Amino acid sequence: MSGDATMRVEFALNGRPVSLDIDPAERLLDTLRYTLGLTGSKEGCGEGECGACTVYMDGLPVNSCLVPTFQARGRAIETIESIPPESLGAMLASGATQCGACTPGVVMTACWLRKHPELLKTHTAREVMAGNLCRCTGYDGIVDGIRDAMNEKGTA
Ligand code: FES
Ligand code: FES
Repeated sequence: MSGDATMRVEFALNGRPVSLDIDPAERLLDTLRYTLGLTGSKEGCGEGECGACTVYMDGLPVNSCLVPTFQARGRAIETIESIPPESLGAMLASGATQCGACTPGVVMTACWLRKHPELLKTHTAREVMAGNLCRCTGYDGIVDGIRDAMNEKGTA
């Protein structure tokens, strides 16, 4: 959809109310980065493959490059900017980041996993992280960082 028509979209962003008049076809990733100035979420593939754009929608990780912003209406959106810096420590210490392009998405998924450790009863950390691609380091450092962060040695 394109053209001059806009629609009002209201949602919670990192715990604060947001009200925007936007093109209904605009992607949430673009709204976050270019309208709201939250540039932590990155664009990698733009096709839902790499996870660099991961944000939470009502607590669940989603690829914001695939979500039209109007779908955020009435929902709670959380971005990498909502993650406390101390949550990054284990990822950085494990060598899980080099160029950093994937890191925001990796951290979002890893922090979500940390909130849901029960997932490790049925999935490995690698499986949970499969939607976050890293061209630099691969998964070893990432999984190590998750292990350290969760203090769950051997379960990932
Ligand atoms: S940029 Fe969204 S999944 Fe790659
Ligand atoms: S650190 Fe470069 S893509 Fe992951």
